[in-house]
Amino acid sequence: MDGRIAAVGPQDALELRFADADRIDCGGRLLMPGLVDSHTHAIFGRPRFEEQELRAMGLPYMEIAKRGGGIHSSVRDLRARAEDELVALALPRLRRIASYGTTTVEVKSGYGLTVVDELKTLRVIRRLQELLPLRLVPTWLGAHEVPQEYRARGDQGRADYLRLLVHEMLPAVAAEGLARFADVFCEPGVYTVAESRVLLEAARVAGLGLKLHADELQTSGAAELAVALGAASADHLAAVSEDGVRALAAGGTVATLLPGTMLFLGSARQAPARALIDAGAPVALASDFNPGTSPTVNFPLVLTLAVSQLRLTAAEAVVAGTVNGAAALSLAGETGQLAPGFSADLALFDAEDVRELPYWYGDRLCRGTWVGGVACHP
Ligand code: NIG
Ligand code: FE
Repeated sequence: MDGRIAAVGPQDALELRFADADRIDCGGRLLMPGLVDSHTHAIFGRPRFEEQELRAMGLPYMEIAKRGGGIHSSVRDLRARAEDELVALALPRLRRIASYGTTTVEVKSGYGLTVVDELKTLRVIRRLQELLPLRLVPTWLGAHEVPQEYRARGDQGRADYLRLLVHEMLPAVAAEGLARFADVFCEPGVYTVAESRVLLEAARVAGLGLKLHADELQTSGAAELAVALGAASADHLAAVSEDGVRALAAGGTVATLLPGTMLFLGSARQAPARALIDAGAPVALASDFNPGTSPTVNFPLVLTLAVSQLRLTAAEAVVAGTVNGAAALSLAGETGQLAPGFSADLALFDAEDVRELPYWYGDRLCRGTWVGGVACHP
């Protein structure tokens, strides 16, 4: 049935009904919907391990960025690389992501920050999709930073880059159909709430879905903006306000939490996951895989952090990493569930109980994945 789940039910009934079907013996182990990683920055060149030590010595993430490191450093690096090289670097990284049980990966641009380099990044994602059975969802993040060459020109430079984003980059991305979503790093010192609104409204007119890096390090009201614009997700939220929690509970925007990022940054602060869930907000989890703040390909480890740091139950964590991750990508009817009609996106784990997934932390229990019924890993 073209890669879709035909039926779910007790073994005896299914064996009678599908007597002619090929069989895969899963050995009594745990078969689940493949994990949905709805927030990554997987296209980058050089890793940035030197920054981890700088933070350990007391230099904050934003301070490193102000000195030309952080995202700026990855931007200089990516601009110097050819499309082929970026494909070659990303391929093994995405295969490692798949090897932990992930079957859908959202991938953002955002280390190019010129028309040419953002299009180059998004074309890399399109080529990777042709090379891998993994389901990739491309997001345009031209507003990941204000590039240094524009920052150097103060307010005028900033205004010029915003104009470039809205009037040149976005139309070019939309014309080539290279992205499903647009995202903005809305954070004091990066993009303001007002600027984010202008960018996302333009993206919506251009036909893209909306996502937002919201209230990550400082409270700004970004979560409220995401809800007001009907964004598919508001991501990070470690510094979301009580009003933001209420807005997320009342609106249709998924609250996507990235506990690996806060852990890796050495922050004691985590998003108020319990308050969000208890208020009724849909909560997703994602890895935020990127070279600066979350260089992990291990989604089950994010489930561990969700239980141990965010105080989710194992079941809540699994829902957040499957069903709700799919909703954060507007794919709620397509993937993330084992139900008739859904794409056969599956992950097999060497476990008997779903609670083992967050329990054996850091381990790789995944023994196979399928996307649309096609074997993806190993
Ligand atoms: O989600 N917050 C902005 N973007 C990334 C970090 C990117 C980087 O440092 O390279 C994040 O944490
Ligand atoms: Fe991010």
